[in-house]
Amino acid sequence: MKKAVFGIIGAGGIAQSQHLPNLTRAPHAFLKTVCDLDGDRVRAAQEKYGVPHGTTDHRELLADEEIQAVVVATREDQQALLTIEALRAGKHVYVEKPLALTAEECQAVVAAQQEAGRFVAVGFNRRFAPAYRKAKEVASCDGGARNIHYRISDEYWSWGKDYPPGVRVLHEVCHLFDLIRWLTESDAESVYCVESRPDDEVIVLKMRSGCIASIMNSGHATMDMPKERLEVITERGGLTVEEFVELRTYGYGDFEPVYRFAGHSHPDREYTHKFLLEKTGAEGLHALRRMGWEMRERVQGLEDEREFPEREEMQRYIHRDAPLWNYMVDKGWLEAMDHFARCILSGRSPENATAADAWQASILGHAAIKSRKIGTVTYFRCCKMPVDNNIYSEKR
Ligand SMILES: NC(=O)c1ccc[n+]([C@@H]2O[C@H](COP(=O)([O-])OP(=O)(O)OC[C@H]3O[C@@H](n4cnc5c(N)ncnc54)[C@H](O)[C@@H]3O)[C@@H](O)[C@H]2O)c1
Repeated sequence: MKKAVFGIIGAGGIAQSQHLPNLTRAPHAFLKTVCDLDGDRVRAAQEKYGVPHGTTDHRELLADEEIQAVVVATREDQQALLTIEALRAGKHVYVEKPLALTAEECQAVVAAQQEAGRFVAVGFNRRFAPAYRKAKEVASCDGGARNIHYRISDEYWSWGKDYPPGVRVLHEVCHLFDLIRWLTESDAESVYCVESRPDDEVIVLKMRSGCIASIMNSGHATMDMPKERLEVITERGGLTVEEFVELRTYGYGDFEPVYRFAGHSHPDREYTHKFLLEKTGAEGLHALRRMGWEMRERVQGLEDEREFPEREEMQRYIHRDAPLWNYMVDKGWLEAMDHFARCILSGRSPENATAADAWQASILGHAAIKSRKIGTVTYFRCCKMPVDNNIYSEKR
């Protein structure tokens, strides 16, 4: 089978949990080179995934004419610059969200993409989550979404410490701005945001399709709670999706009441959950999350290991064997990458989110922050809204 040749820049968290394993198992992709500023990470990735070349200089990767596409998985301060450089070197680019810190930088990527005539796919992978593709199909058969509610909540209080308060909306909610635009096939007409404390807020969107959407965003939740839930009201029916594993439909004669979806595995981790989730849906998911949370609490709470002889075994399970808790459901990462590779081979336009979609998500994120700050609704007459970009310099 023909494969598109990839290089990856950035071998950190998302690369290790998703892109490196996915690029090595995607049927239409071949990963030739891995690049990171940290040479140890390069060597570890090469060894683990059998990647033939490694470098700490991205220019070396970009100069390789055999490489057709580059995955940019660095942090958001580098993503737009590296994407533009890769486009100018003639590469297609799959770049992680949020693409850039400002709407202007996203706009610059749009311009570079148009000039280069190469594809840019932004890592809004939820467009490829099987549960959300089915949800969109169900909603489309009944006049489309009229009212959407989305909750996203997790332990950002523990892993997002490096970021200033209040910017989770740019890093995490950007996924949902894109998802709601994709589900409704529509742009936003207005946005309003109110917070109870930094990184705990509700955002209300009115879409041009007539749909309204509310996003409950919290970085103060527990891992015991599933991270994401989608609820949609259509013309006469409704649907819910619990954490990508269970879609329930209400009031539709043509669809099953319940659809369950397999989980997502990592090649060197225990994989039972992948099949378990397809069989048990939300019930299995709740049990797994509760188990992981209880184990972690139990291990952390113990000072004297003699009190608890299984401690070592449990720690090994938590840190080495257990499914990656936030990556054990299928949010579409693998299919988003393989679809992109297929489009590179065929020349067909990818269905991935584009740089222009990332630009729209960025405009919405900044407008939500502005609304939260001054308490007013932001209305969009056209796409090019003035954007307040100063918030990122605030310190936590
Ligand atoms: N789509 C998703 O589900 C998802 C999930 C998590 C993170 N992300 C996004 O992925 C991006 C990366 O996040 P992360 O947690 O992996 O970050 P990270 O800090 O763990 O990894 C970034 C890596 O990039 C490397 N790097 C930085 N600049 C470089 C350069 N110029 N050349 C080569 N290597 C360079 C760093 O050394 C580091 O290893 C972020 O934008 C984040 O928002 C997306």
